Amino acid sequence: MTIDYIEEIKKLKKEKNAVILAHFYQEAAIQDIADYVGDSLGLSKKAAETNAEMIVFAGVHFMSETAKILNPDKKVLLPDLDAGCSLADATPVSEFKKFIEAHPGYKVITYINCSAEVKALSDIICTSSNAVKIVNSLPKEQKIIFAPDKNLGRFVMKETGRDMVLWNGACVVHEAFSMDKLITLKQKHPEAVIVAHPESEDHILKTASYIGSTTGLLNYVKNSKEKEFIVATEAGILHKMSSDNPDKVLIPAPSKEDNTCACAECHFMKMNTMEKLYRCIKNETPELKLSKELIEKAYLPIKKMLDISA
Ligand code: 13P
Ligand code: SF4
Repeated sequence: MTIDYIEEIKKLKKEKNAVILAHFYQEAAIQDIADYVGDSLGLSKKAAETNAEMIVFAGVHFMSETAKILNPDKKVLLPDLDAGCSLADATPVSEFKKFIEAHPGYKVITYINCSAEVKALSDIICTSSNAVKIVNSLPKEQKIIFAPDKNLGRFVMKETGRDMVLWNGACVVHEAFSMDKLITLKQKHPEAVIVAHPESEDHILKTASYIGSTTGLLNYVKNSKEKEFIVATEAGILHKMSSDNPDKVLIPAPSKEDNTCACAECHFMKMNTMEKLYRCIKNETPELKLSKELIEKAYLPIKKMLDISA
């Protein structure tokens, strides 16, 4: 018997008073069935304000951890617990702790793409949509460690004119854009406007007319009078972008790797499938669990971020 995942998930959501939060990099069917689709900041805000009893997070591990930290008494589910992130992987907690100890007097601003343990060692969390604001919220003379994304860190340094000590992490997806292929593509489409996510490398960002978070990119393309865009971020964003802009030509920026879609795909994000989502709500597993002590420590820098970006 084949299962109608859409109908079954809708039924289960109602029965269990569950909310599905999904990131823009999820596969199209998951975005379509979600109650809310957003960028990391939007998803954190939604997680903080939901009345649902159960949160099903169609995203990656650090996102569902953030939802759990904001809702310690709720059941938080993630369709695949192995859906990680190269930025989180690049920041082992013991090494990060030593790095912080080697920089006394520095405030630690950490990108939300990190583990709960790393959050617990940080002063303020940020996302790509509020990183500039968070850095600017500290006095000019304050010395700052920015982790784990060096590309976002460099972008924020340029935007704020401040010097920061950067951790050496990167997103495997955004580092995979090919400059050579991008130049060839732009030659073929001279009218196309390049937009990019700040996790991309500096040489890619230099070609972009607009740099922003996934929500920022979606808003920019929607409000622009231009008709053709080359989009340098994970290809899942094209689902929402094309439904918002049926009359515009949207071209995914080319990846160095010759993969099936010739574009950038996050294999962590794509670990979630409709089948896993269905089984996860039905069986209420896998469940994200964190100790009370870790939740309390990791909550403080997230709360600071939410207060600054309210
Ligand atoms: P945003 O949606 O916050 O821009 O984050 C992008 C990303 O890479 C999430 O993993
Ligand atoms: Fe992590 Fe990059 Fe995937 Fe986002 S796109 S989850 S930053 S590996």
